[in-house]
Amino acid sequence: MTNSPWWRDAVVYEIYVRSFADASGDGVGDLQGIRSRLPYLAALGVDAVWLTPFQPSPMADGGYDVADYRDVDPLFGTLADFDALVAAAHELGLRVMVDIVPNHSSSAHRWFQAALAAPPGDPARDRYIFRDGDAPPNNWTSVFGGPAWTQVPDGQWYLHLFAPEQPDFNWRNPEVHEEFLDVLRFWLDRGVDGFRIDVAMGLYKNADLPDVPPAEEGFRSQSPIWSQPEVHEVYREWRKVLDSYPDDRAAVGEVWTDSTEDLARYVRPDELHQSFNFAWLEAPWSATAFRTVIDETLAAVPAPTWVLSNHDVVRHISRYGEGSLDPQAGPARGRAALMTMLALPGSAYLYQGEELGLPEVKDLPPEARQDPIFTRSGGEVTGRDGCRVPLPWSGTAEPFGFSPEGTRPWLPQPAAWATLTAAHQDGDRASTLSFYRRVLAVRRTLRETLPGTITWLGSSEDALIFARGELICAINCGEGPVPLPPYSEVLLSSGPYDPSVLPPDTAVWLRA
Ligand code: NOJ
Repeated sequence: MTNSPWWRDAVVYEIYVRSFADASGDGVGDLQGIRSRLPYLAALGVDAVWLTPFQPSPMADGGYDVADYRDVDPLFGTLADFDALVAAAHELGLRVMVDIVPNHSSSAHRWFQAALAAPPGDPARDRYIFRDGDAPPNNWTSVFGGPAWTQVPDGQWYLHLFAPEQPDFNWRNPEVHEEFLDVLRFWLDRGVDGFRIDVAMGLYKNADLPDVPPAEEGFRSQSPIWSQPEVHEVYREWRKVLDSYPDDRAAVGEVWTDSTEDLARYVRPDELHQSFNFAWLEAPWSATAFRTVIDETLAAVPAPTWVLSNHDVVRHISRYGEGSLDPQAGPARGRAALMTMLALPGSAYLYQGEELGLPEVKDLPPEARQDPIFTRSGGEVTGRDGCRVPLPWSGTAEPFGFSPEGTRPWLPQPAAWATLTAAHQDGDRASTLSFYRRVLAVRRTLRETLPGTITWLGSSEDALIFARGELICAINCGEGPVPLPPYSEVLLSSGPYDPSVLPPDTAVWLRA
C-alpha cells in the first residue's frame, strides 16, 4: 500500500557478483561491470539489487569467506567503484543491498590469524570457537561435507560449519557484536539501503555443543546448531542501528529452517524486516505443495518474501522440468510460478539469469568446477557451479559479452546460450526477457492498489486460483485444462490460453 516501506513489496534482483558482468577483462565479474549494466536492470523493472560478497577474500567459498569486512577485493574493484555503483544505482531509482557474513570469517581474517598465533586460552581465541580434546568435540558435520572441526598444531579444535577456511565466530564474545555493529555502520554510511544476512540462523550454537542425533541433521529449528534463542538479540541490536538511519534501511535474513513459526520469529517487529522464505523453492511442481506453502507463510509471516532460485540451488526451470519428457515443461512452469509468486502479497527475490530463462548447466567439466562442495566431496556431490555460470549478454559465442572479447569467463558458458543472450531476446515479444519485463511492469501498475491478503477461489486440486483485490491469479499444475472463473479482462498470461480454460503449465492474471 502507498505508505508502506519500499521493501515490503519490492522485487529484489540478486547479483552474483563473480558472474554478472566483467569490465576488467579477467574473466570474473566486477563492480564496474555491474555499473555498466544498471540501465538493463532499471529497464527490467526491479526495485533493488542484492550484491553477493565482494569484500577481500581468498575465495575458498566464492567470497563467503571474508577476510576484511570493510573493503573491496581487487578482483572486483575498489571502494571508489563501490561508491560510484551505489550513486549510479540510486540515480536510476534502484536500491542496493549488500551481503553481510556474520556466522564465520575467512581463516585469512586478521582475528583468526591472531587466534592461531595465540596460545590456547588466550582472549584472541575466544572470538572463534576453539575447544581442547583428543578427538573432535562433537559429531557435527560441515554443511559442505566432512567434520565441522579442524585441529590446529597445538591440539585445539576450531569449529567451521562450512569449509575449514570459514571458522565460525563466537557470538558469546561481546567484541564480535561490536565489530559487526561497526561493519553495518560502515556500509550504511556509504549509502547502502539494506543487508542480506548470510546464515542468519547460525550465529549462536548451543553452549554445551551436544552431539546431533544422526536422524536430526539438516537445517532444523530444533537443533543445537541452528536457531538458538540468543540469535534474536543480535537482530534486535542490528535493528536499532538500521532504524537510526533515514530512508527505511532494511535487512533480510537467510534463514533455512523446517518451521514457518521459527522463520516468523526472525521478523518480529524489533528484529529483521524480512527473512527468505525458502519453502517454495524447496517445493515440487505441485498445486497442493504451493497451496500449503502459501497458506502457512501468509498465516505466520507478516512481511513475506518469495524466492524461486538463488546461487545455492539448481535453477528453477531445470528443477521443474525434471521428470518431464517435454523440454518446454520446465521453462513454461517457471513462467507460471513467477506470475504466481509475483501476485502474492510481499516481496520477491529474483536470481540473475532467470529473466533470460537460463537453465542449470549440468555438464561443466570437473576441472572447471570451483564449488568447495564439489572439491571437498572428491567430485561426488555436483555442487552449485551449474547455477553460477556467467551471464550471456550478447554475441554468438563465449564470452557472450560477459567479458571483453578474447577473455575466458571463470566458468565456461554453453554454446547453446547464443539464443539466450539479453541482446538476442531484447525486442522479441515471445522471449523470456520480454515476459519478465511485462510481468514486472504490470505488477508495478497494480501493486499500490492490492490488499495484503488473498482469497482462495474454488478450483480442482491441480490448480490454484486466488483473488487479491481485483487481481485474480490462476495457475494450472495438472495435466488437463482447468476452467477459469468469471473475469472482465486478461491482464497477462504465461503462455497460450483459451478465454475460458487454462491449459497445463500455465498461469494467468485476470481482472475480476
Ligand atoms: C549461504 C550462501 O548463500 C552460500 O553461498 C555460502 O556457501 C554459505 N552461506 C556459507 O557462507
